[in-house]
Amino acid sequence: MDGFIERERGSNALKFIQLRDFSAIIQCVIEKEIVGEEKFKTADKIQVEYSLRIFGEVREEPRSPVGYEIHVKDFEVVGESNEFPIGKDFSEEYLLDVRHLWLRSRKMTAIMKVRSTVFGAIHDYFRKNGFYEHQSPIFMSSQCEGGSTLFKVNYFGHPLFLAQTWQLHAEAMIFALENIYTIAPSFRAEKSKTSKHLTGYWHAEMEITWADFGDVIDVGEGLIKHVVKTVLEENKAELETLKRDVEKLKPIIDKPFKRMTYNEALKILKEKCKMELEWGKDLRTLEEEALTKLYDVPIIVTHYPKIVKAFYMREDEKNPDVVLGCDFLAPEGHGEIIGGSQREHDIKKIIKRLEEQGEDIKDYEFYLDTRKYGSVPHGGFGLGVERLVKWICNLDNIKDAIAFPRTMLRYGP
Ligand code: 4AD
Ligand code: MG
Repeated sequence: MDGFIERERGSNALKFIQLRDFSAIIQCVIEKEIVGEEKFKTADKIQVEYSLRIFGEVREEPRSPVGYEIHVKDFEVVGESNEFPIGKDFSEEYLLDVRHLWLRSRKMTAIMKVRSTVFGAIHDYFRKNGFYEHQSPIFMSSQCEGGSTLFKVNYFGHPLFLAQTWQLHAEAMIFALENIYTIAPSFRAEKSKTSKHLTGYWHAEMEITWADFGDVIDVGEGLIKHVVKTVLEENKAELETLKRDVEKLKPIIDKPFKRMTYNEALKILKEKCKMELEWGKDLRTLEEEALTKLYDVPIIVTHYPKIVKAFYMREDEKNPDVVLGCDFLAPEGHGEIIGGSQREHDIKKIIKRLEEQGEDIKDYEFYLDTRKYGSVPHGGFGLGVERLVKWICNLDNIKDAIAFPRTMLRYGP
């Protein structure tokens, strides 16, 4: 068996090592009498994170968590490891400094396995439901989600931005493929230090055609149900390692999500949480957390005030002060995981809202063409994959939901 030393201890005739590979940790016993004097001297030098190739006999061992241990007949040191810089009790910041090494920990290994399942399940859901996978550009000439979080790039002397979303180009692609999805990096120059924001994150987005607001919400609910179900089936051991209370995830699979309008959310906040929010203000983390603690399933808040949402969201015909936009809020205080909407198809309204935001219409010419030539009702959403992993694993900070996190103050390793 090939593996890495997780722990080691021993006496002058007997050495116990915990050997780790991607799947498990198994105890290996090295006896001087069996391997010989010379080999045992090497065994004595072995430290944490040495990589070894072990030859021996597997024996049943009821006290072992895996039910077996290995009695070593011979071994080879493949890579030495002297004074591995992580032991016990280090600060979160230090563990981020040595993230490239901390990834080997049981906690990070478990999270990364769940993350892999989540990506697979997202692809699986969309492909089984007739979506084409499509990619949009990363270099962009305009904003989509507001100017304040744009990353500027010097593109051969020309100012461009890193994509905040695939959306504008996706809205051009639907005329060919109709129902499309992607999982791609998105970039936001978030200056806030929170447990929910990265500056680069993985964004699962979809756009559907000949569809209304209800269809967009149904796809979001179906997707999350599928991902959570898949993780519960495939990652029992990892969720246990992370001490995730799986009972909290089980309702997600069969129970309908809680849908409410923004106005209803304000009313519930006032009556049940004693929190007053002025109409027209976006829900903050504080309010989102309070709301989500009231339910055991995600909440889908709809019909937000137009002023707090992006220019492309469709006005509600019944009330032009609100838009057909939705946020999915994850339980247990994890907050927004999906943002989506029905798209405005009235070109005049789009132009008016862009102008109100001080945008130059010239930068949006290609986008406006999507409303000029055979426009159809359509909509879509974006799901923050790290936000989803954070909730599923119940992590304190989004930084642990990605191997090498990027935030305003953290850009290495
Ligand atoms: O709500 P947002 O800004 O919506 C959009 O970008 C739409 N254009 C999506 C669409 O309709 N195609 O972002 C969508 C999701 C959020 O709900 C959140 O989960 C995640 O992206 N997100 C972030 N995740 C991590 N770090 C950040 N800084 C994030 N900003 C947004
Ligand atoms: Mg949003």
